[in-house]
Amino acid sequence: MLLGSGELGKEVIIEAQRLGLETVAVDRYMGAPAQYPADRAYTGNMTEKGFLKHLVEKENPDFIVPEIEAINLEALSEFEDKGIFVSPRAEAQKIAMDRFRLRETLDKAGVRVSQYHFTSTAEDFEAACKDFNYTCITKARFSSSGHGSYIVNSKEDVQAAWDERKKARKPSEDVIVEEYIPFSTEDNQLVVRNNGTHFCKTLGHYQLHGDYHSSWQPIYRNEEERKGFEAVKDQVYSFAEKATLALAGKKGRGIHAVEQFLDFENKKVYVNEVSCRPHDTGMVTFKTHYPGYSQSGLHIRAVSQVPIEPRLYQEEDGVRILNSIGPGASHVIVSPSEGWNPQFRGIDKALQHGDVWIFKKPYAFHEPHHGRRLGVALALADTVAEAIKEAELTAHCVEIKTNENPTWKPQWMKEKHVVS
Ligand SMILES: Nc1ncnc2c1ncn2[C@@H]1O[C@H](COP(=O)(O)OP(=O)(O)O)[C@@H](O)[C@H]1O
Ligand SMILES: [Mg+2]
Repeated sequence: MLLGSGELGKEVIIEAQRLGLETVAVDRYMGAPAQYPADRAYTGNMTEKGFLKHLVEKENPDFIVPEIEAINLEALSEFEDKGIFVSPRAEAQKIAMDRFRLRETLDKAGVRVSQYHFTSTAEDFEAACKDFNYTCITKARFSSSGHGSYIVNSKEDVQAAWDERKKARKPSEDVIVEEYIPFSTEDNQLVVRNNGTHFCKTLGHYQLHGDYHSSWQPIYRNEEERKGFEAVKDQVYSFAEKATLALAGKKGRGIHAVEQFLDFENKKVYVNEVSCRPHDTGMVTFKTHYPGYSQSGLHIRAVSQVPIEPRLYQEEDGVRILNSIGPGASHVIVSPSEGWNPQFRGIDKALQHGDVWIFKKPYAFHEPHHGRRLGVALALADTVAEAIKEAELTAHCVEIKTNENPTWKPQWMKEKHVVS
């Protein structure tokens, strides 16, 4: 039973179908991407305990796979107590969505994190910012996608940073104040906890307006980054594994995405966040990994205890790294318009550069800064730098219209892009 049926979950369901599992997809709206390939679909409010209990009684699932954060976590623990497997463990899901608990757990496990203070009053908050010489980043305790976070560069920013907490998913007075790390690059390390630990080749990515925009695998775009990465990769793998064990324990099963900051100059790796499910940036593995072994395939294999074929990974110094087909990149396809029934053109041109996967969402909305993600462009190439360029060109060939906004429009966000 998949809780949250977005584009990442859709691939989980497809991979579960390949393994012969019976699948149930749940979402808050009807026609969510993962509901199409599932055997059965339900629609309702997953933060409501009664709704989840009703579904679990009706379907009696062997495995519950959370795909989103907005789920009643108490219910997950109760299901686990009854003997249903919750991926990777109910407790891990709770820790991952609470910045205070996550920080504490990582710190205790001996994983390097940036220095931090937990604050819950304006006075403590001000003092914490001062402690970091007003060079810090502040994040609301229960928040994601940049909502509720603020980069403090001077004393004058403190009030705005404190007010920012109100924009979080679940507003509270609790805010973490973190030392600002001037990292060389950030990575996402996908870790599969199944029969032991397997790592995917490390992912690179950039974000626009708090959301993932493009990702690539492996992480290095040039020789300098390759050398930098080689010097810190032991820390990347060991911190990532420790983080997953700290959250879910040895019995945890599933894929985890461990966000890290890499400081090549000082040869230091910091863990920033952990999510216990397939990750946006991991969509690149839909193309770079062998069939059945994308992040979603790896996730459902781990959940259902289907081992990984030994020929599909290499062991280097005791670290198991999954093979990939070649360097690749992904780039989001976001809607430039709002409305029902999004339609697409320009796919023929796009396919000269890379592949286009459409999620089949029924409605496109548009916010001041970004539109809804409706698809993803995926490209393989001889080098990562080339793949990033090709994925970008692919996405930018696609034009979109909706019933309410019938003018064809292309992608418009151009910041941080390499060609278009
Ligand atoms: N301590 C930090 N130092 C430097 N940059 C940071 C720090 N914390 C976060 N960032 C930057 O902000 C981005 C978003 O922060 P993150 O903690 O991942 O929140 P979320 O992804 O939930 O919005 C990170 O990917 C990174 O680029
Ligand atoms: Mg993040």
